[in-house]
Amino acid sequence: MASNKRVPMIAGNWKMHLNSKEAADLAAAIRKGLDPDLKHEVLLAPTFTNLHAVKAVLAGSKIFLSSQDVAWEEKGAFTGAVSPSQLIDAGCTHAIIGHSERRKIFLETDEVVNKKVKAAIKANLVPVLCIGETLEERESQRTYRVLETQLNGAFAGITAAEASKVVIAYEPVWAIGTGKTATPDQAQDAHVYVRRQMERIYGKPYAEAVRLLYGGSVKADNVDELMAQPDIDGALVGGESLKSDKFLRVIHFQAVLKGRV
Ligand code: 13P
Repeated sequence: MASNKRVPMIAGNWKMHLNSKEAADLAAAIRKGLDPDLKHEVLLAPTFTNLHAVKAVLAGSKIFLSSQDVAWEEKGAFTGAVSPSQLIDAGCTHAIIGHSERRKIFLETDEVVNKKVKAAIKANLVPVLCIGETLEERESQRTYRVLETQLNGAFAGITAAEASKVVIAYEPVWAIGTGKTATPDQAQDAHVYVRRQMERIYGKPYAEAVRLLYGGSVKADNVDELMAQPDIDGALVGGESLKSDKFLRVIHFQAVLKGRV
């Protein structure tokens, strides 16, 4: 597999943390600590209310700005929602979609996720589509079935050309915020499965090109072995992305086995 052709991406999902000053300060520290020759992509996803402050700090840098969610409608009576064009106006290039917290706490279905992915693509926002199984699903040997269902749902009615914009994040729910990282072998195994599903849906060239991020308790001290796996193309990081020194270490991972850095 031509894994080293896929540009790695390290994304920080700041969830519902930080006020605007704290977010701007954290973004500034990350910007300052970034290797100027870094070849891969770095993404920060603050809460909606902190997008403007972080955008100002990132202006002129190579760091991308992402939302943590997006509405599927462009405008109208949708209280509390933020549209794709409003996110672009706020400086976003990417939108996290279908995070397990959105699915579980805010009851987002695969159908809703699909509408959001379509809306983001239409507006030229890169969807960072999250999928992943719960502990119960893993323990009852349903991991593959869950991933297949989530992928079929998310990509329904989306052409290969449209799908080429999407980045997929595999985030096993049992590994999120628990300190229980999937082992590199478990993560690699799931990524191979996801890549096979994408081959089934869109064919081999697509499957070889699509970037698959791993998320779930990625830390400064486990990122290297995760990124050394041939089908892990990046990381979606929660807690560890809130500490600039730790997140900078994650960003500057050392995966020599993969010959990427
Ligand atoms: P943690 O890194 O805190 O486990 O969160 C992962 C996550 O949900 C990123 O989207």
